[in-house]
Amino acid sequence: MPHRWLLLLACFWVLFMLLVASKFITLTMRSPEGYGIKQGLLTVLPELEKMTVTEARKFHIDSPPTVDTLKNMTHIDLIHKERLELLRSVCRNGSFRNLSHSGISKFVLDRIFVSDRHKILFCQTPKVGNTQWKKVLIVLNGAYSSIEDIPENVVHDHDKNGLPRLSSYSMEDVQERLNSYFKFLIVRDPFERLISAYKDKFVHNPRFEPWYKHNIAPVIIRKYRKDRTEIRGGLQFQDFVRYLGDPNHKFLDLQFGDHIIHWVTYVELCAPCEINYNVIGHHETLEEDAPYILREAGIDELVSYPTIPPGITKYNQSKVEYYFSKVSKRDIKRLYDRFEGDFKLFGYKEPTFLFP
Ligand SMILES: *[C@@H]1O[C@H](CO)[C@@H](O)[C@H](O)[C@H]1NC(C)=O
Ligand SMILES: *[C@@H]1O[C@H](CO)[C@@H](O)[C@H](O)[C@H]1NC(C)=O
Ligand SMILES: *[C@@H]1O[C@H](CO)[C@@H](O)[C@H](O)[C@H]1NC(C)=O
Ligand SMILES: *[C@@H]1O[C@H](CO)[C@@H](O)[C@H](O)[C@H]1NC(C)=O
Repeated sequence: MPHRWLLLLACFWVLFMLLVASKFITLTMRSPEGYGIKQGLLTVLPELEKMTVTEARKFHIDSPPTVDTLKNMTHIDLIHKERLELLRSVCRNGSFRNLSHSGISKFVLDRIFVSDRHKILFCQTPKVGNTQWKKVLIVLNGAYSSIEDIPENVVHDHDKNGLPRLSSYSMEDVQERLNSYFKFLIVRDPFERLISAYKDKFVHNPRFEPWYKHNIAPVIIRKYRKDRTEIRGGLQFQDFVRYLGDPNHKFLDLQFGDHIIHWVTYVELCAPCEINYNVIGHHETLEEDAPYILREAGIDELVSYPTIPPGITKYNQSKVEYYFSKVSKRDIKRLYDRFEGDFKLFGYKEPTFLFP
């Protein structure tokens, strides 16, 4: 059947030309006027693996939109619209008033990073992949030309990395930026985030920050360890939960200073009811949300989010069950009462499996 082969060959030819053409379009669009931003990933990965999530999406957008992509785009737009509507309705709901409002304090302004060049504000919520977003913004602000060029110790050094905090501006400039810039934050399941903070700061402590184990842990243990005969070294998860669920936790928070950013609520970190965020990203759907944020912020052609290792963003209920199996129902309930605002504002399900 030579006809069929010819047809097949022709199809391949057309497909090949389309691929070449779209690659060409992507590349031209990617070389931005004088920013010199290299697409970090492209420098290391072999040809075939270059198609990261962002890349794949771009490919779809660069080619003529099919009914399918249009449907999908509307779908993700809709999800984000619903997230914002939920947030606003919970903010208005009087029964959560104390749990959802925090005021735009200096503490909040310290959490927000600024790109004046691209008119973006990003509120940092630790343990939710924020380092990667900070790297994206550092590159956008022009201090480094690609994500791999940023030394690890510079990412969090805001005197050197060209990523100022909103708190370093005058009140007038703060107001102007809050009113007109694109604003976003990323959240994840509140309890899973606390587990991650506990492991990262009190168990593994990979960046060697000795004050968590040596200064903070003993203070929490002294006040909150139930069984005084328990002398196992180090802070246990149940001690940590008892501290966080204590309505008088603020007393210790004051002693711990800014280190509490790893475990205070999103409400306290980012004031989501006072600041009109444009997009709320969810860690659990970061594969879709990261390119969406870049697109909405108008920077998707300048930079892309680093490759997300498969599986790491997924909510892991068995992990949550495992950690909380050591905590009393009463302490879990108290913890939930404090974090209920975060659950409700961002649409996370009440973890009823923990206190049936
Ligand atoms: C659209 O979304 C569906 C389900 O989320 C997915 O299976 C499909 O591959 C997507 N199509 C395109 C063209 O992205
Ligand atoms: C406020 O929240 C409570 C508890 O979830 C709910 O029962 C109530 O309907 C909400 N009120 C409004 C006005 O949405
Ligand atoms: C909110 O907090 C205030 C002061 O701390 C308190 O008087 C009030 O009862 C609280 N409201 C609710 C609904 O919990
Ligand atoms: C969930 O967490 C548990 C305990 O940390 C781990 O052993 C397991 O591999 C995780 N499951 C997934 C799907 O990541």
